[in-house]
This record gives sequence, structure tokens and C-alpha cells, in this order.
Amino acid sequence: MTSNLPRPFLLLSFLSLIAAASYEEDATRRTMEEFSGYPTSPHPSALSLSPSSLSVDMVGLQRQIDELAAFSDTPAPSVTRILYSEKDVLARSYIKSLMEEAGLSVREDAVGNIFGRWNGAEAGLAAVATGSHIDAIPYSGKYDGVVGVLGALEAMRVLRRSGFQPRRSLEVIMFTSEEPTRFGISCLGSRLLAGIEAVANALKHVVDGQNNSFFDAAKGAGYDVHQEDLSNMFLTKESYSAFLELHIEQGPILEQEGVSIGIVTAIAAPASIKVEFEGNGGHAGAVLMPARNDAGLAAAELALAVEKHVMESGSIDTVGTVGILELHPGAINSIPSKSHLEIDTRDIDEKRRNTVIEKIQQSATRIAKARGVKLSQFEIVNQDPPALCEGSIINAMEVASQHLNLTHKLMISRAYHDSLFMARVSPMGMIFIPCYKGYSHKPEEYASIEDIANGVKVLALTLAKLSLD
Ligand SMILES: *[C@@H]1O[C@H](CO)[C@@H](O)[C@H](O)[C@H]1NC(C)=O
Ligand SMILES: *[C@@H]1O[C@H](CO)[C@@H](O)[C@H](O)[C@H]1NC(C)=O
Ligand SMILES: [Zn+2]
Repeated sequence: MTSNLPRPFLLLSFLSLIAAASYEEDATRRTMEEFSGYPTSPHPSALSLSPSSLSVDMVGLQRQIDELAAFSDTPAPSVTRILYSEKDVLARSYIKSLMEEAGLSVREDAVGNIFGRWNGAEAGLAAVATGSHIDAIPYSGKYDGVVGVLGALEAMRVLRRSGFQPRRSLEVIMFTSEEPTRFGISCLGSRLLAGIEAVANALKHVVDGQNNSFFDAAKGAGYDVHQEDLSNMFLTKESYSAFLELHIEQGPILEQEGVSIGIVTAIAAPASIKVEFEGNGGHAGAVLMPARNDAGLAAAELALAVEKHVMESGSIDTVGTVGILELHPGAINSIPSKSHLEIDTRDIDEKRRNTVIEKIQQSATRIAKARGVKLSQFEIVNQDPPALCEGSIINAMEVASQHLNLTHKLMISRAYHDSLFMARVSPMGMIFIPCYKGYSHKPEEYASIEDIANGVKVLALTLAKLSLD
């Protein structure tokens, strides 16, 4: 009946209905969802038209994912793409050329965060941004991060094809070095955008495994960046009105439950701690048990204490891991004279996580005393605050999923992403899509193009809605 109306009009009317639906009907809808377990659709007749006009070019998108995966230092199906390597530079020019083909104006900052902007009718307003990363740890897969960059570009094309005209500008961001592989700093690009001074300072001193400084490595990749350029990258809170990230779940829940879309409500944040105990060591035969001060056993006892303190938090969302436990000298017939632990603990509640850290520190002190070893290091290496996603963005994503007839589920991101840092300067939201067995950071990582296309559609509708707000 309304099919003779031009598409832009349909999409606009759809979007204003989304806005109305999300505010007025929210309470009822939630109750019905909780009751039925399935999302209900507030205005099926009026809203069903435009979402179905959004068409994702699945063949093209899959081809781009495969082409990008070919810029790798290890053979397929694995992907290895390290910051500022030759392959990273090639991948970056590939992304820039796709942005240009999509009609976006492309800009790069001092460290190589890449921005592709579609100017809105009111380009002076804060823009709506979306993006992720394309760097890949050694022998990983081709979807982590990539889906959020190439998918974001496809979302722009989807909206263009539908005839949509943004009010606020829309922007795709490719962040530099989400992975800590080369310089030990994760989310390097987004931390700098978020204005974290400590990262700008740390970059003065960091070197990679070959003793190359950050600045030399950047220069080698064509970024002639200097210390003073870094603080110029810091964003203000007026830069973006919203930031969204599309990402594979990197966990098994969506696939197991057969749900198409995960809408993230909070991102857990890690704290990492380095601990060192020192004892006297000695011969494994000659030194009798009462005379020992075994640094290895102190480490073992602390590892168990970490587990205990995490379990005591009372929340399933608190986790703790001793991923590194090294003993010195590391010989079968030698009592460990030194031990080194690295502890990662995460939560979506900062206070709860910090309580765990305090308890770990108390235990380390107590264990050292009881065993007569020295606690020679207890260093909290980083302690990032968790982030909550913005209620209005969560809402827009839920409504978009419903009108695309996609099942969705609210969930927590237990891994962290560039979004964790973008949340410091912008309201933030994340969309998860299922991935095979939850695999990530290995060559078996896989997401079907149908699932990716679903994520792209939810992203496109949400971007459109936020651009008109
Ligand atoms: C969603 O399902 C309804 C009812 O089956 C249908 O009318 C509508 O076209 C569907 N919308 C989309 C975007 O597929
Ligand atoms: C690393 O490079 C710096 C500066 O060029 C030099 O002073 C230092 O000795 C080097 N370190 C190693 C381990 O090679
Ligand atoms: Zn990622």
C-alpha cells in the first residue's frame, strides 16, 4: 500500500516510529519479553517495510574479509598482522581505499587511527561513530575486529543504497593496535583518543622485541609522529554523540542459544598485577623442610588465594587468572629462590574488582611473612575502569533487532575492546554476533556471513536512528 513511497521517506518514518516505540512502549515490551522469552514487535505493520529494504551485499563483504585476511605474515587460515608491519601498512591502504570507494572523506591521525566520514545535513553537530580494529595477534583469525570495520563500512553503503540522509555525520573508525602484541599496550589508538596521558607518556620509553622504539616503528610505517602530537589526538566529549562497535562475541553463548544478536550492557575491565617473591633457594636434597623459604610455594599459595578471593566476591562476573607463574632457577633439584606471577582480574563492577585486588595484596604480604620470603614486587600494572553501555543506545539496538525480526539478548562483554576507552569520551554501545564455538584468537575463528549481515543491519538501523537524534 505504501510501497510507492520513496525509500528515504519510509526509512525516516520507520526511524521516528523507532524513537516513539523505544520511549513509550519500553516498559510493557520488557515485561512481555521477560514473560514470553521472545521479543515482541510494537508496530509490526508500520515498521516492517523499511527494515526489509536494507540489503547487505554479502558476497562483496565476504570477499573483502577474505582480501583483508590475505595481508598476513603467516599462511591462511591463520592471520598475523602486527602494528606497523609491512602487512599492516598494506591492510591500512586497503581500508582507506574502501572508505574512499564508499564515498567517505578519509583522515588519519598521528598514530594511524583512520577515520572515514559521511557528512550529515547538520555536519556541525557531534557525529555518530562506529568502528573496531584490524590488527591481529600471531596465528589468529580473520574476524576479530575486522567484522566491526568492514561491517561498519557495509552499514554505510547499506544506508546510502536505501537513500538515507544522515543528520549528524556518520563516521567509521579503524583503531590502531587494539592488540598489545608489539609494544605491550592494548587499545593504543583508542586510549590516546580517550585522552589517557599515561599511555602518551609510556610511549616515550616502550620498545618492541627488536628494541625498536614506538616512534621509529611508526616512522617506518609512514607516521612521522612526535611526542607532542599525541596530546593533540585527545578527543573532547563534544566529538561524538555516540560510539558503536560491532564485534564477534568471542564466547559461545549466542551460538549455543541460537540467538542472532547480543546487545552489550557493560564491558568488564581488567586489572593486571605483577608479583615477585624472593627466598634463599638451596639444594633440593640438602636443605631440610623446616629450614626452607621456598619462593615457589609462596607463588603457589598466592595463586590459590587469587581463586579464593575471586570466588568470595559473590558474583559470577568476577574472574581472576594467574596466567604466568615462573620459578627461578627452574631446576628439578633446586629450591625456587625467586618466583614471578602475573595476575589478571576482571569485573563489570570496579569496586568489587578493586576489593579483590586489595585481598590479593593482603594475602601476598601474609604468605611472604609466613614463609619467610620477601615480597619484592607487588605492582598493579593497570587498573582500567569497566564501562556501562548507554541506555538509549541499548534501547535503539533492541528496537532495531526486533524490527529486523532478529532474536537478541542482553549480555556482558567479558573481553574488552576499543569501546571500553571510547566510553570515556562518548556514550557507547556494542553489538555482538555469534561465532563458531566461541573461538577467537586462533585460525578456527569463524562467523557466518549471514550472522555478520544481521549485525550490519542492526548497526545500520541504530546508526541511522542516532544520526537523527
Ligand atoms: C518480520 O516479520 C514480519 C511478520 O512475519 C514480516 O511482516 C516482516 O516483513 C519481517 N520484517 C523483516 C525486516 O524481515
Ligand atoms: C636498545 O636501544 C637503545 C637505544 O638505541 C640502546 O641504548 C640499548 O642499549 C639497546 N638495548 C638493547 C638490549 O639492545
Ligand atoms: Zn577485537
